[in-house]
Amino acid sequence: MVSFVGLALIPLAVVASPPVEAKRTAARPALGYLRGKQINGIHILPSSFRDIRAVRALEKACFGRDAWGYGELIFVYGAFGAVRLKAVADGRLIGFVAGEPRTAEGFAWISTIGVHPEYQQRGIGSRLLSQCEAGLTESSIKLTVRASNTPAIALYRRFGYEEADRWPGYYAGGEAGILMEKKRGE
Ligand SMILES: CC(C)(COP(=O)(O)OP(=O)(O)OC[C@H]1O[C@@H](n2cnc3c(N)ncnc32)[C@H](O)[C@@H]1OP(=O)(O)O)[C@@H](O)C(=O)NCCC(=O)NCCS
Repeated sequence: MVSFVGLALIPLAVVASPPVEAKRTAARPALGYLRGKQINGIHILPSSFRDIRAVRALEKACFGRDAWGYGELIFVYGAFGAVRLKAVADGRLIGFVAGEPRTAEGFAWISTIGVHPEYQQRGIGSRLLSQCEAGLTESSIKLTVRASNTPAIALYRRFGYEEADRWPGYYAGGEAGILMEKKRGE
């Protein structure tokens, strides 16, 4: 695992350089999502690179073998125009979502969403997803989910996402991924 101290040694050019795919994006998201909101002691706030260690810990708590490491998270924080939001409760980061505009392809992509197991089923995932969507301007939003991930699939269906494709063997262990898409403004 890369230590936090180790991360500080990564050349800034690497951290600051967005992935090639993100460089093709042009539109900036609306800024409404930047306003922090407090609902029942849960703050939904913009997330910066300074949160990377807490997000890495959250990934491990939420995703187990699918957890992203620092490499993937550096790309999340470097993605141009991406919406990155955290949920904070009791002084700790307990939720995170990232949505990336892929304007050239005509859609946005929810790259990760997670709520710490101790805080699930309290509406926090819904708040994160709702505010992330509000910061994305594309008419279509896509994501992938493990075929067996019933809670997440229920969340996405509740938000209007529908199965668009099924990718066999997409995830570690060989499980299929479901591509889900939400078409907005129709
Ligand atoms: C998916 C996840 C983000 C939902 O977060 P959450 O804060 O628990 O979600 P909410 O409390 O806002 O619930 C919203 C809806 O999601 C669905 N849902 C959430 N947890 C559920 C569960 N355990 N079983 C079935 N449906 C569930 C329900 O439709 C729920 O609506 P309802 O309360 O009206 O029934 C959370 O379960 C999580 O972090 N899971 C681990 C990481 C993960 O799988 N992320 C998605 C990767 S694609």
